Formats: sequence, structure tokens, C-alpha cells
Amino acid sequence: MPSKLAAESVKMKIQYISIALGILLLAFCFQYCSGKKSDSNISVASSVKQQQYYVHGEQLYIKHCSNCHQKNGTGLGLLYPPLAKSDYVDTNFESVICLMRYGMEGELTVNGKSFNKAMPGIPSLSDLEIAEIATYLYNTWEHQRDSIELQDVSRILDNCKEGSVSK
Ligand code: HEC
Repeated sequence: MPSKLAAESVKMKIQYISIALGILLLAFCFQYCSGKKSDSNISVASSVKQQQYYVHGEQLYIKHCSNCHQKNGTGLGLLYPPLAKSDYVDTNFESVICLMRYGMEGELTVNGKSFNKAMPGIPSLSDLEIAEIATYLYNTWEHQRDSIELQDVSRILDNCKEGSVSK
């Protein structure tokens, strides 16, 4: 009898181990499969949450921003400034967060070129959606800034003054 019990418990252990291995495999696939599709620079060590932000952020970017700034972030002539390789994006993290919700107007210089056409804000974007778009924006093309936290984005949004994004 005891040996049968022992055999049962070994069987159970094997089952647990295979379930755990299955979960690990899924987690790895999530990291690598989605990373390959979307050019993510996020390191493998960074959390699954950041990966999710990135993936949702890309979809939101395509829906809300790519009409003007283009899918590959190059902008459009002198009408819409570029986001990929934009010195403005590199150095104005807080303004970039604010302008998604409140828009931006007045003269603006990006990579030495002057732009002056108002960008309408998108007030319907939630704090989370803005954090997701920012995660996408700051981890594609040549920008590098991982770990954008929702609480930081909410704090920045609380502090931005409507209609007065600094340049
Ligand atoms: C209707 C067109 C339009 C849409 C949609 C739009 N933008 Fe803009 N965006 C502009 C224009 C025009 C400017 C330049 C504003 C100025 O001259 O003051 C701008 C400026 C910017 C800038 C600062 C300049 C730069 O190129 O670095 C960022 C960052 C930006 N937009 C990000 C976004 C993001 C992110 C979204 C989506 C959530 C978005 N924009 C949606 C038209 C748009």
C-alpha cells in the first residue's frame, strides 16, 4: 500500500512539473513571439506588463496617431513633425504625455525644422492608454526608455495645464 501511495505522489509531482513547464513555455513565447512581430527593444528581462503596454500602445498609436505622424513615425513633410528620431520626444517626456490628451499649438522646432500647425488633443484617452502609447513611442525607432509606470503618467497628467504644453 505505502508504495502505491508513493507512486501516486510521484505521478502528481510529475503532473505539477509539466504544468509549470507549460506555463514557462507560454511566458517565453509571449516575450519572444510578440517581440519579433513588433520590433520591440524592451529587454527580455523587463516585465510582461511592459510588453502588454507596448503591444496595446502600438495598436493605439496606429488608431489615434498614425494618420498624421505616419505608421513608421516619420511625420509628413512640414505639416506633421516626426516622432521617430525626434529630439523633442527624446527630451520632453512630460510634455509628450500631456500633449496626447490636451494637444499642442504654436511654433515648434523638431530636429532643426520648424512646424506650426495645431495638434488636437485626444481627451478620450485614459491614463492607462497614454502610458501604453508612451511605452510604444519610447521603445521603438531609436528611443530607449523602458519601464513607464502608470502612476508616474497619472501624476504627470494631473500636473499638466490644459492647452499650455511647453516647447
Ligand atoms: C490631426 C493630426 C495629428 C494627430 C492625430 C496627432 N498629432 Fe501629434 N502633432 C500634430 C501636429 C500638427 C504637431 C505639431 C504641433 C505644433 O506645431 O505646435 C504634433 C506634434 C506632436 C509631438 C511633438 C513634436 C514631435 O514631433 O516630437 C508629439 C510627441 C506628438 N505630436 C505625438 C502624438 C501622438 C502620440 C499622437 C497620438 C496619441 C498624436 N501626436 C496625434 C498632429 C497630430
